[in-house]
Amino acid sequence: MLNDILTTGVGVETRNTEADDSLLWPAERDSLGDVVEGRFRSYVLGRRCARLALGQLGVEPQPILTGDQRQPLWPSGVVGSITHTAGYVAAAVARLGDLRSMGIDAEPDLPMPPGVVQRISRPEDATWLSSDADFGVTDPGRLLFSAKEAIYKAWFPVAERWLGFRDAFLEIDACAHTFLAHITVDGPLSTLDGRYRVSDGIVICTIELAA
Ligand SMILES: CC(C)(COP(=O)(O)OP(=O)(O)OC[C@H]1O[C@@H](n2cnc3c(N)ncnc32)[C@H](O)[C@@H]1OP(=O)(O)O)[C@@H](O)C(=O)NCCC(=O)NCCS
Repeated sequence: MLNDILTTGVGVETRNTEADDSLLWPAERDSLGDVVEGRFRSYVLGRRCARLALGQLGVEPQPILTGDQRQPLWPSGVVGSITHTAGYVAAAVARLGDLRSMGIDAEPDLPMPPGVVQRISRPEDATWLSSDADFGVTDPGRLLFSAKEAIYKAWFPVAERWLGFRDAFLEIDACAHTFLAHITVDGPLSTLDGRYRVSDGIVICTIELAA
C-alpha cells in the first residue's frame, strides 16, 4: 500500500507483530530504555522497516537513534519517516536532494473517539469534514488526524519546532486521494502536498516534500 502512493521515496511496511532485541542495535536498545511491550514491538519493527528501506537506497545498516523531540535521526544525506499503529508498521526514506523531508502516518480505519475531531480541526476543515463527499474512510475525522500527524513529521525536520493541530487546515481531493495542507503560522513552509490511501483497515497519509 505504501509504495503505491510514494512517488519518490522507498517504503517498507509490515503487519508482522513479532519483535525481539536481535533486531535492534545496542545504541538503539539503550536509547529506548524501559518501555511497555507494545512500545518495544512498535519501536523494533519501525527500526527494522527503516533499515530495510535504507538498504534499498544502498545505505549501510546502522543505528537510527532518536532526537530530543522524538524525531528519528536519519543517516547523513537521507530523509525519512516512521509510523506504527495496531497491526501495521512502516517506514519511508529518500535521498536528501531528491526530497527535503518526509512524513508518513498510519491509523486504523475506525471512527475517532468523541470530541477529538473538534480539538484538532480549524473552521476551514469543517468545510470538507461536513461535506457529503466519499473520502473512502470510515470517518473523515480519522483522515484529518492522520494527515495532520504526517504534516507534523514532515514539518519538524525543516522547521525544527512544534506545530499544533490547529496550526494547519486541509483541502482534500476525494477523487484523487490527495490533500493540500495550509500552514497558518509563520515558518519555512506555508503549504504541503500529501496523498492518502485506505486499504485493509488502515488509513495511511504520506507527504514527500520536494527538495
Ligand atoms: C509526533 C507524533 C506526530 C507521533 O505520532 P504517534 O501517535 O506516536 O504516531 P506514529 O506511531 O505514527 O509515529 C511515531 C513516530 O513518529 C516519529 N516522530 C516522533 N516525533 C517526531 C518529530 N518531532 N519529527 C518527526 N518524526 C517524529 C518517530 O519516528 C516515532 O516513532 P519512533 O519513536 O518509534 O521512532 C505525535 O505524537 C504528536 O506529537 N502529535 C502532535 C503534533 C501534531 O501532530 N501536529 C499536527 C500539525 S498539523
